[in-house]
Amino acid sequence: MYRFMLAFGCLTLSTTLATTTNAETALERGEYLVEGPMGCGNCHTPLGPDGPIMDQHLGGRLVEDSDMFTAYAANITPGGVIADWTDAELGRAIREGIRPDGTVIGPLMPFGFYRNISDTDLAAIVTYLRSVPVVDLVQPASVWNIPLPPAYGPPLDAVADLPRGVTVEWGEYVAQVSHCMECHSGWGPTGPMIDTHLGAGGFEFHGPWGVSIAPNITNGPDGLLAYTDAEIADMIIAGQRPDGSAMLPPMPYPYLARMTPEDLDALILYLRSVPPLPDAG
Ligand code: HEC
Ligand code: HEC
Repeated sequence: MYRFMLAFGCLTLSTTLATTTNAETALERGEYLVEGPMGCGNCHTPLGPDGPIMDQHLGGRLVEDSDMFTAYAANITPGGVIADWTDAELGRAIREGIRPDGTVIGPLMPFGFYRNISDTDLAAIVTYLRSVPVVDLVQPASVWNIPLPPAYGPPLDAVADLPRGVTVEWGEYVAQVSHCMECHSGWGPTGPMIDTHLGAGGFEFHGPWGVSIAPNITNGPDGLLAYTDAEIADMIIAGQRPDGSAMLPPMPYPYLARMTPEDLDALILYLRSVPPLPDAG
């Protein structure tokens, strides 16, 4: 069984929310993405009994320990492995999963979706990572007992920005960088079955909370059809169901809570467009 040792807690980020006006700086945009919808810290920040250890934010941790692999998410602060990498090398690692030495980064990083990150957003993420406080932690190398792919696709030259707005297209981009469908699609032997099971759910997560199963979030009767937009919004950003009960990890609610209202509206518009599929069963 594939086990995710993820958890969530209350994030106490002292940083301020970035705005989504196009006048924002690269640093602001990068902060918004990393600390907001992309939630890098959901995997890269050490966990204590009370949740993420914020004075070691992005310092890396053991994410997954199974027969198939033992995956340590690296220290991605300026004190970590990325310190000597150029911006282009760091960008390639994040978007394409290839390190400067040519090795492939393991598939827990959602590269299938990160390949859509625009050049501007990638540069913003790199700018922000260069600015975060140094954490002095060294994570062991991951061990992969499954073959890693030679690459996650052909080399990428340029990825253009999409126009922002409350549109299905922008909402899809928000979903891609937030890797919603990495967790919410049915999984086959090589990962989420995006082409055939997009949003159908069924993937099980094991952790200190027990077992949680990513539900069907397609726009059909087995998915989100019966919920109002406001109910969907509360589930995504507050981790709260319509009956008021709290939802389980590892969905990164505290990070998603920082999403701007516009991005959230666009995301929900996109979810309404996801073709209905039955539950994975
Ligand atoms: C679902 C968990 C997860 C998320 C989300 C995630 N990462 Fe990772 N990341 C990992 C794991 C696990 C590794 C190590 C893989 C390996 O060792 O092969 C890794 C490796 C990396 C590396 C390569 C370091 C190295 O040499 O091993 C970089 C850079 C990185 N992540 C940056 C990011 C950034 C930036 C984000 C957010 C935009 C992010 N990650 C989101 C799990 C995650
Ligand atoms: C790391 C995995 C993960 C990621 C990333 C993730 N989710 Fe989830 N999601 C879950 C799990 C697990 C549950 C079930 C929680 C529970 O049972 O309490 C869930 C529940 C939900 C629900 C409640 C559905 C229902 O019918 O109960 C919605 C809606 C949802 N997620 C939407 C999203 C969206 C939109 C995104 C991206 C912005 C996202 N999720 C990202 C794992 C994830």
